[in-house]
Amino acid sequence: MNNLEFKNTLEKIDNKSSKIGIIGLGYVGLPLSILLVKNNFHIFGFDTDKKKISKIKKNKSYIDRISNSDVALINKRGKFYSNFSKIRECEIIIICVPTPLKNNTVPDLSFIRNTIKSIKRFLKEGQVLILESTSYPGTTNEEIYKKLKSKFNIGKNFFLGFSSERIDPGVNENSIQKIPKVVSGFSENCLKVISRFYKKSFNQVVESKSLEIAEFSKLLENIYRSINIGFINEMKILADRMNLDIFEIIEVANTKPYGFRRFFPGPGIGGHCIPVDPNYLYWKSVKLGLPAKFIKLSAQTNFLVLNFLIKKILSNLKKIKISNKKAKILILGLSYKKNLDDIRESASIKLIDKLHKKNIKNICFYDPYIKEEMLDKTIKKINYLNSNVLINFDIVILMTDHDIFDYDLIKKKSKLIIDCRGRFEVKGNVQRG
Ligand SMILES: NC(=O)c1ccc[n+]([C@@H]2O[C@H](COP(=O)([O-])OP(=O)(O)OC[C@H]3O[C@@H](n4cnc5c(N)ncnc54)[C@H](O)[C@@H]3O)[C@@H](O)[C@H]2O)c1
Repeated sequence: MNNLEFKNTLEKIDNKSSKIGIIGLGYVGLPLSILLVKNNFHIFGFDTDKKKISKIKKNKSYIDRISNSDVALINKRGKFYSNFSKIRECEIIIICVPTPLKNNTVPDLSFIRNTIKSIKRFLKEGQVLILESTSYPGTTNEEIYKKLKSKFNIGKNFFLGFSSERIDPGVNENSIQKIPKVVSGFSENCLKVISRFYKKSFNQVVESKSLEIAEFSKLLENIYRSINIGFINEMKILADRMNLDIFEIIEVANTKPYGFRRFFPGPGIGGHCIPVDPNYLYWKSVKLGLPAKFIKLSAQTNFLVLNFLIKKILSNLKKIKISNKKAKILILGLSYKKNLDDIRESASIKLIDKLHKKNIKNICFYDPYIKEEMLDKTIKKINYLNSNVLINFDIVILMTDHDIFDYDLIKKKSKLIIDCRGRFEVKGNVQRG
């Protein structure tokens, strides 16, 4: 590819005639597809999950906060496939496949590897390939560059980069253009092309000096959260031992105008990012012979914080002289985060499991965001919350503080509330959990 062709690639981006292939149409890929289409790009969407492809083709959204009308829009202006031959027609290809863990600790890059394996034969000169999946520093180089370098002269006739995804589920999947977009490239040309492309749809693009800096920055952001949550969870337990409420302490500390950023404790971390991503860097740190102690400690603290809640529940049952077998527990909120339908790594589900093991089997939950079919049959759902329901339970545990809950009713009618979210003042029938 000569300089003229490099200019062509840029020109196609400038006049938005580049066709964009999005591989993986989940929580990251679907909102990105919508944004690109709204910015007048044509897209090809690829997903190995045929059900997702079929839903898009029927204009049906499979993510709660994404509207059917937005799915109809991408359906009108895009094409969707569960095989990869159309990759050859794309100018820009973005990989948004999962990066989970094996055995809860080891990075599982099989989705990225399978993607490269499936698309390699359809790749051609002049294309741009971008990884958006989260992984440890070195992934784009090791898993993509090394596998494509025999086919292309990367940076000259093929362009490669990494761009992190910073969606905050339930908050901004419909306005991702407002989140500054970190971009990086294998070479200067790669960075130039990739940066030019994202600038067409995002309000602010942040250029990173290398792939590895961009990859590390994504993990740094999530580990920063994990560590601060771990720290405040530990402070919660300590404060409780001193009969102090951590939420009141945070409120006072937060009046400092600099040097303090507020994080809230909870019953345990959930979702796809915070419980998973730090392990990617920890794994890498161990490989380098420098195990990152803060990462490990915060993960352990955030995992063990559920035991604090379990101890509270058991000691309360003892106090009110109700056996575990007879105890009736109501859990408010099953999703890992408020105002969301997402139960991935949900602390509520872990709590139910642990209570079952303590022979507390009479547990129900109330969460209007969660449909029954999302759960196995051992978890009982309550469809309406009213006085009669609340009075019926020995302990009501506020796990996820959805805004739609009637907090006055909960406060008035519950016998005992264990509040893990700081919604209620610790007083009368309320304890901190
Ligand atoms: N969800 C978030 O809030 C979030 C935020 C920032 C970054 N990320 C990162 O983005 C990546 C994607 O996360 P997600 O939440 O969108 O995952 P997801 O599970 O919601 O979506 C991934 C999609 O990829 C599809 N897929 C799997 N293998 C495939 C293959 N070989 N070819 C084509 N499609 C394939 C799956 O069927 C699924 O639809 C992960 O690396 C994640 O860590 C996620």
